[in-house]
Amino acid sequence: MPTALLSIRHKVTIAVIALYFFMAAGVAGSYYFMYQLEDKIAYLEELSKLEESILEIRRFEKNYFLYDDQKSLATVLYHIDRVKELLKKNVPKIESLSSHEKVNGFRADLAEYERLLQSCWTARVGEECQKSSETRAEQEARIRSLGSRISDFAEGLARQKRQSIRQTMRTAVQIQMLVFAVVAFGFTVHGAFLVTKVIKPLRRLEKSTESIAKGQFKPIHDLPPEKEIREIFDSFNRMAEQLKIREEQLVQSKKLASLGTMLAGVAHEVNNPLSNISSSCEILMEELDQADPDWQKQLLKKVLEQVDKARGIVLNLLEFSRNKDFSKEWFELEPIIRKTLSLLHGQIPPQIQVDVEVEPRLKIYADKQRFQQAVMNLVSNAVQAIDGEGVVSIKARQATDGFVEVAIRDTGKGIKQEDLPKIFDPFFTTKDVGKGTGLGLFITHDIILRHGGSIQVDSEPGKGTTFLLKLPAQEVVNE
Ligand SMILES: Nc1ncnc2c1ncn2[C@@H]1O[C@H](COP(=O)(O)OP(=O)(O)O)[C@@H](O)[C@H]1O
Ligand SMILES: [Mg+2]
Repeated sequence: MPTALLSIRHKVTIAVIALYFFMAAGVAGSYYFMYQLEDKIAYLEELSKLEESILEIRRFEKNYFLYDDQKSLATVLYHIDRVKELLKKNVPKIESLSSHEKVNGFRADLAEYERLLQSCWTARVGEECQKSSETRAEQEARIRSLGSRISDFAEGLARQKRQSIRQTMRTAVQIQMLVFAVVAFGFTVHGAFLVTKVIKPLRRLEKSTESIAKGQFKPIHDLPPEKEIREIFDSFNRMAEQLKIREEQLVQSKKLASLGTMLAGVAHEVNNPLSNISSSCEILMEELDQADPDWQKQLLKKVLEQVDKARGIVLNLLEFSRNKDFSKEWFELEPIIRKTLSLLHGQIPPQIQVDVEVEPRLKIYADKQRFQQAVMNLVSNAVQAIDGEGVVSIKARQATDGFVEVAIRDTGKGIKQEDLPKIFDPFFTTKDVGKGTGLGLFITHDIILRHGGSIQVDSEPGKGTTFLLKLPAQEVVNE
């Protein structure tokens, strides 16, 4: 896959800047609406004053007609002046809410209303308004209808203004909700982006690191296009490659080192039976004619025993040096362990109890024959360590770290502290001449390591010993 044009850092930065800009625009928009709202509220106050004055006008107009008092009339005239003043101050705004014609109509109505009331005032002074009751009633009706038109107009204005404030508030809330939705969406997309582009590759890396810990040096394929992750994966792959080379070198040098020890051992171990064979042969040659045939047979039997011993050593060594590929397969542990025990049946005295406790259907991926050989070596050591009565237990379970654990425990004599570092060395044995070759643990260790597993020993002299095998529960590519 080609490298992406923009790195993750750039993409994240751009996304964050874009979100900030959007949020800033949202805040600016809200601020603008709030500012407008403030303006509108201030203006609504002016309109309320206008409405109030007009209400006062209507109230005192009613009083005037009811009680016919001059004071009410004077108050009406005073409020008309106020309304005129407020109108003059707010003409453009009022015209924007209503229309030029309507405002002019209102002004004309107001002027006519004032004129009629004033004429009443002067008429009253000149006693003319009351001249005929008909004129007065007519005049009153006209004044009333004008008054109600005036107050309708003011009410309409205030209603419109309130509506416009409500609208502004609604728009502001809508804008805020929109900004919130977009920002929330942006953050969600951003989070999803980080998860897919960063967290998931990190998980892959974690998995690969785990398999390296199990000795599986698999490079990561399908490098993602993101530059940073690609670089990390690249260097991880380089590291895995180097580790693999180093491990191979290490195994090689370990083998060389043990080869030295082994050669000395082989020379010694094979030399013993050879010199036994040779001295038996010499005796036989010298006394071939005179000796008793039974005694000759015994000598020849000894020779055969020594040949067998030498062959055993050579066979074990062959097994170790052979670099033949393991033929791994999936198999269930329990039947294999039971089969191995049945092969050892002849070597296990009846006073030794053997317990097997394997999790049901527990499987491993290994070379069946070599695994059997390893278990056989460990069990026969355990049996040999018990003098008289005792227990050998074999337990296997799936461990949480992806390994299968097999523990082989015995209640035997244990291993001395000073011997512990040596037990995996070739030809190290504490057993009597002819009983042990000292190759069992050496070979077992090699088998387990070549499966990508490990072997640990825990022993207490006088109490017993436990060997713990850890084998990867899945397919391991490198061997
Ligand atoms: N389960 C055990 N209990 C006590 N000692 C043990 C046990 N397993 C191994 N050993 C010690 O480790 C030595 C090496 O074992 P191994 O390599 O199998 O060789 P061998 O059995 O031929 O002596 C043994 O001689 C013995 O001293
Ligand atoms: Mg042994």
